[in-house]
Amino acid sequence: MNARLTSDVLHALLAQAGDTPFYAIGRDAVDGRIATLRALLPATLQLCFAVKANPLPALLQHLATRVDGADVSSAGELTRALAAGFAADDIGFTGPGKRDAELSAAIDAGVRICAESTGEIERIAGHCARLGRTARVALRANPDLAITGSRVRMSGDSFFGIASEDLPDAIALLRSRGLPFAGLHYYCASRMLDAAEIVALHDRCTDEALAICARAGVALAWLNLGGGFGVPVAADERALDFAPVAENLHMLDARLRAAHPDARLALEPGRYLVAEAGHYICRVIDRKTMRGRTWLIVDGGAHQHLQATLQPDRLQPANFPMTLHPHAATGERERVSIAGPLCAPFDVLARDIELPRARPGDLLVVHCSGAYGASASPVNFLGHPPPAEFLF
Ligand SMILES: Cc1ncc(COP(=O)(O)O)c(C=O)c1O
Repeated sequence: MNARLTSDVLHALLAQAGDTPFYAIGRDAVDGRIATLRALLPATLQLCFAVKANPLPALLQHLATRVDGADVSSAGELTRALAAGFAADDIGFTGPGKRDAELSAAIDAGVRICAESTGEIERIAGHCARLGRTARVALRANPDLAITGSRVRMSGDSFFGIASEDLPDAIALLRSRGLPFAGLHYYCASRMLDAAEIVALHDRCTDEALAICARAGVALAWLNLGGGFGVPVAADERALDFAPVAENLHMLDARLRAAHPDARLALEPGRYLVAEAGHYICRVIDRKTMRGRTWLIVDGGAHQHLQATLQPDRLQPANFPMTLHPHAATGERERVSIAGPLCAPFDVLARDIELPRARPGDLLVVHCSGAYGASASPVNFLGHPPPAEFLF
């Protein structure tokens, strides 16, 4: 799905942006990914979008009519999701440190709050009493699982959610405060590319959720198995084969409904829905050869696309898929490394990749850039203007 841009499209996008660097997200590519998933997933599964992956208002508006809900993690994201047209009923609010004003806003809006501690349950109960309202409270589980296939692990020895072994007590606390139990939420790892790992994870979480609800003697209305599905960005990564994951979700959905007939299974991917639809376009400013290595210096970099540059889990940049659009194609190719404009050693977009020979002024397109781009980057660092971002 990682579609390349034709030169005509690229120049039309550049005219729209006014200048480089900028992000452009393809509507058709987003729709294509959703259609593929819908064809594979159980029809009743609630497919939500994790807003943190890309909170661009136009994208949220587009998605509000195509997916079944949104996962938000701040009052700001909540406001954006509601403004984009997501119904409060279909919004879940996760996050380990929700401030009192955010809890009040969530209760006021009527969204499902995924509580991440017993202290948070008490605060929600306090706000409900003060506001004369009730709240839909799900609990975020933190299972103690070994997850080997992901790049980022968010369960086990981490600060997310409530330890699974403590969940029956947390459910009892919720009920003692007069709050309805609105389900269980899992989000254990991200950037997972191995279908077998994901299947095993979903199995473990579902087994655990069913056991917890049986032990607590409660009905399970909603089981959210999270997101975390990866897209390949480095040469050593392969695309996730989603079919076995979906096939397993059909079986889990049947098991869930056999035990809890009114239960709804949910997912909340971010990256997987939008990453491959997005492109980050920058321009070559300079080129130089030092000690045998040719560097292209471009006007985009870590301040706007942090995840495409050096990462803590890699000594080298991932070398995101990139295409160079030379003014005058000569057919000549060269091996280059690519750095951004920051005075920072991590501002490296690629190391030792092969591209057509580049000259200053040429456009460089970094693909796979629709998720965790500008909004997940230190855009104020060095005072460059923020990049434009739009749908096409
Ligand atoms: C609670 C929660 N849900 C969903 C997501 C989306 O993850 P991804 O974009 O990897 O699918 C995240 C990402 O950190 C998250 O923390």
